[in-house]
Amino acid sequence: ASDDASVEDGGEVVVVSNRQPYRHEWRDGEIAVDRPTGGLTAGLDAVVRRIDGSWIAWGDGDADREVVDEDDCVAVPPDADDQYPLRRVWLTDDQVDGYYYGFSNRVLWPVCHGALTRVAEDSGAWDAYRGVNERFADAVAERTGPGDVVWLQDYHFGLVPRLLRSRLPDDVVVTQFWHIPWPGWDTFRACPHGEELLRGLLGNDLLVVHVDRYRQNFLDCVAAALPEATVDRDSGRVRHADGVTTVEAYPLGVDTERIAEHALSPAASERWDRLRSQYDLGDDVRLAVGVDRLDYTKGITERVDAVERLLERHPELRGEFTLLQVGSESRSRIPAYREVQTDVVEAVTRVNGRFRTDDWRPVVYTTDRLTDEELYTLFHNADLGVVSPIRDGMNLVAQEYVAAQAGGDGVLVLSRQAGVHDLVGDSAVSITPQDTDGFADGLYEALTMPEAERRERMAALVRRCRACDTEAWIDDVLGRVEHLRGDGVPE
Ligand code: F6P
Repeated sequence: ASDDASVEDGGEVVVVSNRQPYRHEWRDGEIAVDRPTGGLTAGLDAVVRRIDGSWIAWGDGDADREVVDEDDCVAVPPDADDQYPLRRVWLTDDQVDGYYYGFSNRVLWPVCHGALTRVAEDSGAWDAYRGVNERFADAVAERTGPGDVVWLQDYHFGLVPRLLRSRLPDDVVVTQFWHIPWPGWDTFRACPHGEELLRGLLGNDLLVVHVDRYRQNFLDCVAAALPEATVDRDSGRVRHADGVTTVEAYPLGVDTERIAEHALSPAASERWDRLRSQYDLGDDVRLAVGVDRLDYTKGITERVDAVERLLERHPELRGEFTLLQVGSESRSRIPAYREVQTDVVEAVTRVNGRFRTDDWRPVVYTTDRLTDEELYTLFHNADLGVVSPIRDGMNLVAQEYVAAQAGGDGVLVLSRQAGVHDLVGDSAVSITPQDTDGFADGLYEALTMPEAERRERMAALVRRCRACDTEAWIDDVLGRVEHLRGDGVPE
């Protein structure tokens, strides 16, 4: 039972995600516990601990099976007072290939990011996706009781909500957060099995996306694809065979307070000295930072091209400006992701080959796995945060940069095509990543902006990011769940 005010009916919150918040690995003959870097699992972990909930996720650590009980559960975090059960769902290699590398990341990911030329479905992928969604629905049903809230995360579980309808008591509220963009109908219509997916998602009582654009897009897709559904665009309610689904937009944010604390902690200045020497960043160089998974949606080569154009046009910046780009390997079994890794190295080599000197490089590129604290330190000390996705549901790096600035005067250079641009675009320097000239102009504008304007913009960015931090998002979602439960959705 919950002791949190936001889940008033005493039900437990069961979080379901593909990635797990804790992963057990063999290291030097011992079992070690890893936490994935990044905002979402950390933010939700704090909530589940606070509200005494539980979590279900794919067990992908090589020692995960060694630590679970007969129900495939392990209590996490290790050695904490406020532990909760993490239930692992085991998948075979074939299932992972079809469900994760196949339908999730070679169909849904490119469709939702508008990258239709990247869509590559092979025949087993949909069956695997459906099969794994069944496995998760079973796991959820086993752990869910009357009055509970099931909180599904992301595009890996498009069919689970509908599958849960027949498996769960009526008073369980099912809600899902869709972390990636929802595209317009003209794009979504290219999605293989798109109608089944929409019907699957309409098993939710509450479906949440980041921004209103995605909400309208989703409603358009339902109206166009499902004749049996009735869409009320103003209220965001969809009536269909199984009942009513409410669609809302609540932007996901980061834990701004925690990030600022880390960025300002006494250890941070020593950490900064170490990072500066590790990456050969000269004392006086103006620093821009980019941090991304190596994904074709992130616009990393476009960013390097823009730095090249900047240095062509403004030779006075040679020796004075460096982009530190941190890239983390991602989804490498998919050829398009391996290509990104090669393309980024080629672009960086080209630009450095043109401009580098004995003691300066225009682009420092690393695939080192930096800790959250190291990233916040980089963000705190960077004159520019550069976030240039071709398309991105939200982009939490932009918000982390702002939070880590903690009252600083850095400038956020931000793609118009990131969801976060809908929230903070007018205080950032907006760019379009494919427009190399315009992007270079944006970098130049950011580098030459007067201090008073930089501070004013950063203060506005901080205000906006605080208003939608992780806690606000959680309150919005769980508050809406309670509201739906309390009022009852009209049948
Ligand atoms: O942005 C969508 C998302 O699924 C996040 O929820 C997740 O943190 C990220 O992509 C990483 O993806 P993956 O789990 O495939 O490494």
